[in-house]
Amino acid sequence: MRTLRVAIAGLGGVGRATAELLLSRRARYRHIHGADVRLVAACGSQSGLSDEEGLEADRLQRLENGLTGPDFIAASGADILIEAGPSDFRTGGPGLAYIGSSLSAGRDTIVISKGALIHSGRRLRDLARDSGAYLKLSGAAAAALPTIDLVEHSLKGCEVLEVEGILNATTNYLLDAMTTRGIGFDEALLEAQQGGFAEADPRNDTEGWDTACKLLILANFALDADLTMADVAVEGIQSVTADRINAWRREGLVPKLVGSLKRSDNKFRAEVGIKAYPPADAFANVHGKGKAIRITTDAMGETIAIGSGREPLATAGAALKDLEHILTARIPKTRPE
Ligand code: HSE
Repeated sequence: MRTLRVAIAGLGGVGRATAELLLSRRARYRHIHGADVRLVAACGSQSGLSDEEGLEADRLQRLENGLTGPDFIAASGADILIEAGPSDFRTGGPGLAYIGSSLSAGRDTIVISKGALIHSGRRLRDLARDSGAYLKLSGAAAAALPTIDLVEHSLKGCEVLEVEGILNATTNYLLDAMTTRGIGFDEALLEAQQGGFAEADPRNDTEGWDTACKLLILANFALDADLTMADVAVEGIQSVTADRINAWRREGLVPKLVGSLKRSDNKFRAEVGIKAYPPADAFANVHGKGKAIRITTDAMGETIAIGSGREPLATAGAALKDLEHILTARIPKTRPE
């Protein structure tokens, strides 16, 4: 049986949920993939995982030594890194050093935070290609809502003509609460924060940046576009007034913050803004913290996926789906004798 060692960088809510889910699935990895998957190292601002939770003692020692960044990657001895640190698309965030070091060392890398993928996406893609490492990012591209996999697997071979997505749970929750329950922006935002899905700085959600990040990741990593944040016209929901909400209600329309990509002349045009849908449209029926994506292709027409997972488990599930893609690719299937 092949042993695969995993390290996790970032032990906030998502990193911890990922660690716990991974440990709970070790029997599955053995049974389905023939892999002994071990969590050998973890680092982050919260206290580390205990040895009883599955870490090897010597690795735990290194964790307590406080190694971070490239030193952590080198010392971990891991085959696979899962990066789950804080996201900052303007600087790349702390994840950039971890992801860059991991890919440079040829380690398969699963990214959950969006920042580094936006800031240095091209470089990271090149690093992965040159080193032969897998760079997987379902957890960064709307997580529980399948986006990358939809394009790369379910619609494989088709030319994607158009993408439309409700990619941010917080803004969907806010617009839904304001239109269906008639509550104010601040009250709805407080509920989203209490629900644990709003960003630490909610302007990333409300001003449309989180939607734009997810859209760019899908465009650049799954559709081979080469877009930057400067290419995206971004409108948020921060200026939506009660009058505007009432006007949509009178017209029988349902507003959503949507990220969209349109192909023209073999390039994609990207924008984030509010669109109002008639009640029969599938998007009008995505309530609460739900997310949705509609992809139109040349051969397979229109596909819609709708998702709503409980965080942080849903994001952990998306990241570990990527882990299983890597196990499938790396571990040859043996035929029964
Ligand atoms: N704040 C995000 C959202 C979750 O509301 O969808 C992390 O991407």
